[in-house]
Amino acid sequence: MNHPVLVLNVIRKSFGEVEVLHGVDLDVMPGEVHALVGENGAGKSTLMKIAAGIHASDGGSMTLMGRPYAPNSPLDADHMGIGMVHQELSLAPDLSVAENIFAGRLPTNGCFVNWQELNSQASRLLADFGLSIDPRTPISSLSIGYRQVIEVLKALASDPKVIIFDEPTSSLEAREATLVLDTIRKLAAKSIGVVYISHRMDEVFRISDRITVLRDGSLVGTWNAADVSRESVVHAMIGREMTELYPDKASAAGDVLLKVEGLTRTGAFRDVSFVLRKGEILGFSGLVGAGRTEVMRAIFGADIADSGAIYLGGVLLDIRSAKDAVDAGIAYLPEERKAQGLFMERSIEDNILCGNIGRCSRRGIVRSVLSRSLALEMCGRLSVKAKSIEQELQNLSGGNQQKVLLARWLAMKPKALIVDEPTRGVDVGAKGEIHRMLREYASAGNGVIVVSSEMPEIIGLCDRIIVLHEGCISGEVEGATASEAQLASLAFGNHSAPH
Ligand SMILES: Nc1ncnc2c1ncn2[C@@H]1O[C@H](COP(=O)(O)OP(=O)(O)OP(=O)(O)O)[C@@H](O)[C@H]1O
Ligand SMILES: [Mg+2]
Repeated sequence: MNHPVLVLNVIRKSFGEVEVLHGVDLDVMPGEVHALVGENGAGKSTLMKIAAGIHASDGGSMTLMGRPYAPNSPLDADHMGIGMVHQELSLAPDLSVAENIFAGRLPTNGCFVNWQELNSQASRLLADFGLSIDPRTPISSLSIGYRQVIEVLKALASDPKVIIFDEPTSSLEAREATLVLDTIRKLAAKSIGVVYISHRMDEVFRISDRITVLRDGSLVGTWNAADVSRESVVHAMIGREMTELYPDKASAAGDVLLKVEGLTRTGAFRDVSFVLRKGEILGFSGLVGAGRTEVMRAIFGADIADSGAIYLGGVLLDIRSAKDAVDAGIAYLPEERKAQGLFMERSIEDNILCGNIGRCSRRGIVRSVLSRSLALEMCGRLSVKAKSIEQELQNLSGGNQQKVLLARWLAMKPKALIVDEPTRGVDVGAKGEIHRMLREYASAGNGVIVVSSEMPEIIGLCDRIIVLHEGCISGEVEGATASEAQLASLAFGNHSAPH
């Protein structure tokens, strides 16, 4: 009989006055992939940060390979055999694959790095995982999927007993996510215990042996993946029935709202032309790097296009900055929430206020009554889970940070709202809420553009879908009749896509 490698007993954790983990048990067997799921704010990351030595628990105990385990830092946890791979990559872009994998433990001859040894160790590891990457390749020239894989191999260099993954695939498209999932399965095949946190139910069922559900800081249960249905796991997560249905599509297309003609930015995209109609949700699909985000940034004035024209409501716009775009009635919710939008050290209220200062001011002075009521209204509409609107963004769970960003842009009431990966890291329940909000927003006579790497989301949500391939439009399909195969084929540049 196998013994668990890691056991968590009745773990408690409070932040300030608020207890966020109420005595949670979890065990990890060697060689298993153990999925940890739950709504945004359920406590998944916090629980695993305790196991990885990032937070100290306020109650309970842990054992590692049968012995008491109480790491006092992430480094300590790493030395004892527990590694954690976060969603944000920690690789040095200018260093090589080999240097990143063995950072901190480079093989040396005396005081010089033994490059030959380093590269051959890295080659062996890469080959072991079936990866044909030259260990001397700089990280910056790898795709994001391969970078995430290198992140996994880096965790492996310290000979871990358990590796914890916190939403490793949330920014990856299907093909790259598969690469990461395959690598994770190979870790388990080496008898490493894997904890896998994700909101993507299809992936959870694809790779895990057991599934543990947390709800509001408490354990709901642990099941063998083979013995439970997707519906019952979702039910355990959100405590109610949930139909994973998308809102109805637009009944009829309205007048042209946004018209983009021949938009070109050398090296990024070429001759992009399309229209967005009132009442419509228009999807943009394609592989990561196909230029979707670049096109949106150019429409929003974050980058300047070399040529082309943008009209809103029939008026030619001269957009030279994001401010020009906002003034004209275009808003853009970026995909990199931390880098490009949120102020992590500021409160929820401040983050929503930013961008809505005019609305919350009277005679040029911000009125806190107005900004408070706006923040409360928007948090209510999007069910943001937080202690209060004064809470700093950095203390919110990942999915709730995403909702605050969306709240800010919706509050600005733009005519054309562009959202880039709007539900990344958002739980299944909240995802449905965000989809409904976007549909409502479009139905009120506005236009919405959704960029998403999740094909079911694009197909389920959008009225029309434009596919980009290497910076050019490779096709357009109706949301009502689109298939994943058709979108994938267009994404790979095949113009005569099958139906
Ligand atoms: N450093 C902190 N200070 C205060 N509260 C925190 C801190 N970190 C997390 N919390 C709170 O603890 C609760 C659990 O958060 P946690 O990040 O563990 O959720 P999660 O299950 O990982 O959610 P998500 O799916 O959105 O990532 C949330 O209510 C969050 O606001
Ligand atoms: Mg989390």
